[in-house]
Amino acid sequence: MAMSDYKILIFPDPKLRKVAKKITIFDKSLVTLAHKMLETMYEADGIGLAATQIDVHIRLVVMDLSEERDNPRIFVNPEYDILDKSPFTYEEGCLSIPGFNEEISRPSKILLKWQDLKGDFHQEEPEGIFTVCAQHEIDHLDGKLFVDYLSSIKRDRIRKKLENRRT
Ligand code: NI
Repeated sequence: MAMSDYKILIFPDPKLRKVAKKITIFDKSLVTLAHKMLETMYEADGIGLAATQIDVHIRLVVMDLSEERDNPRIFVNPEYDILDKSPFTYEEGCLSIPGFNEEISRPSKILLKWQDLKGDFHQEEPEGIFTVCAQHEIDHLDGKLFVDYLSSIKRDRIRKKLENRRT
């Protein structure tokens, strides 16, 4: 087991479908959890992780989109408004769907809003892959996965392969 103690849930685990609760208490345990999530994400060589993926159902997301893996970011209660619906297509992967990458189209421009670990509010218009990653991770908090945007045939194929891999 990884040093961070957290195991990442793998699709089609039904726990990935739970809707996460809003965070209202900004205490030390939230800080600890966020840092353990970052550790888990780095160990798995991912660029983003939602608390849902480690079976903790609160609205917390961590990310590092930097080349050097030295820019950890933490988002509490992240949400977004769509500024431009025109699709941006990107080949997405997910730590909960290991070994599969698929082209997914999402709105190209959003306004991302979140709180930090102290509860202070922030907002930003993400650029490029940050736009994709933010929407992907917020989907996790709502129990959604990128395979939900694929045809059921494709989704079932991925599900069967992952189920077979575990047994
Ligand atoms: Ni994911």
